[in-house]
Amino acid sequence: MKAVVCEQYGSIDNLTIKEVNDPTPGKGEVLVKVKAVGVNFPDGLLVQGLYQAKPELPFTPGSEFCGEIESLGEGVPHLKPGRRVICMSPSFGAFAEKAVVNCMMTIPVPPDMPDHDAANILCAHGTAHHALKQRAQLKQGETLVVLGAAGGTGLAAVQIGKLMGARVIAVCSTDEKLAIAKENGADELINYSNENLKDRIKALTNRKGADVVYDPVGGDAFKACAGAMARNGRLLVIGFASGTIPELAVNLTLVKEYSVVGVFWGSFVQHEPKVFMENMQELFTWYKEGGVRIEIDSSFSLENTAAALNHVMGRQVKGKVVVTTN
Ligand SMILES: NC(=O)c1ccc[n+]([C@@H]2O[C@H](COP(=O)([O-])OP(=O)(O)OC[C@H]3O[C@@H](n4cnc5c(N)ncnc54)[C@H](OP(=O)(O)O)[C@@H]3O)[C@@H](O)[C@H]2O)c1
Repeated sequence: MKAVVCEQYGSIDNLTIKEVNDPTPGKGEVLVKVKAVGVNFPDGLLVQGLYQAKPELPFTPGSEFCGEIESLGEGVPHLKPGRRVICMSPSFGAFAEKAVVNCMMTIPVPPDMPDHDAANILCAHGTAHHALKQRAQLKQGETLVVLGAAGGTGLAAVQIGKLMGARVIAVCSTDEKLAIAKENGADELINYSNENLKDRIKALTNRKGADVVYDPVGGDAFKACAGAMARNGRLLVIGFASGTIPELAVNLTLVKEYSVVGVFWGSFVQHEPKVFMENMQELFTWYKEGGVRIEIDSSFSLENTAAALNHVMGRQVKGKVVVTTN
């Protein structure tokens, strides 16, 4: 089978595509014929050696995908070959024609969900959902500020914030990106390339500040939000797409009695599988009803996986990018 291979950490352009042996499913695992792979920001960090996980070289990147079960390892009574499934592979391997995954990370695809949507619903929407529901405990009528609101997980947070009854303020670097956030339900828009983020959040909240901030960007944007939180607010630390991990003057949290709340969806999935599955069922319901949508920015072939990753890392994407195997 063909697989994308990372032989050394460094430039994304060093990725190669190779003919390798099919993987074999072990106990509790399934072999899946990959159809579509969701491309995520952490995939790009991983191959550059900039992510918290550093798999042993060589390895095949990619973790979120949709495919069809080809065969089962021992001890997988609840699944059958031929079933279309959504998979999450914490050990990577998805940018390939076939991948092996733990059966517990394999979810049957709801009917009528296309492969490219199924391949993209886990990581971005899963993170936003977990962050707003379990971590922030977002309440109806609260004000939610979403940074990077046209990005993969940001756009998901806009949609889910609206579904949970919040007033959503979307923050993006261009008017074109803000237009996508608005189409996806944002109530208010801030362009942080030419507006003062802290002042605008305060102005839009009657000086009260934001109840919840969803921050996948970090850097200066985090610092601006840290000074514009409401009393009892929750500042969600999602990621650092800007490349800068910010520092916080903790006196701000004392004065406003707000919390800084870490979010690590991968850890949640591993430690709370039952709650994760309940979240997925809610996401599937919202998808069926139309409140959750997967905005596909662009599609690439497996051979062009490096271009797909560069596109995601290049701050150009609105919604999600998908890699398909045929
Ligand atoms: N904690 C978790 O469990 C978890 C799960 C998934 C993802 N993440 C993290 O969340 C972050 C965003 O992921 P994503 O999938 O939403 O990525 P994405 O689709 O590329 O969106 C990231 C957004 O960040 C903004 N940004 C600001 N400075 C940037 C820069 N220098 N380069 C690129 N983007 C920049 C961009 O919006 P503007 O142009 O509008 O500023 C962009 O749309 C990543 O750091 C990722 O690792 C964390």
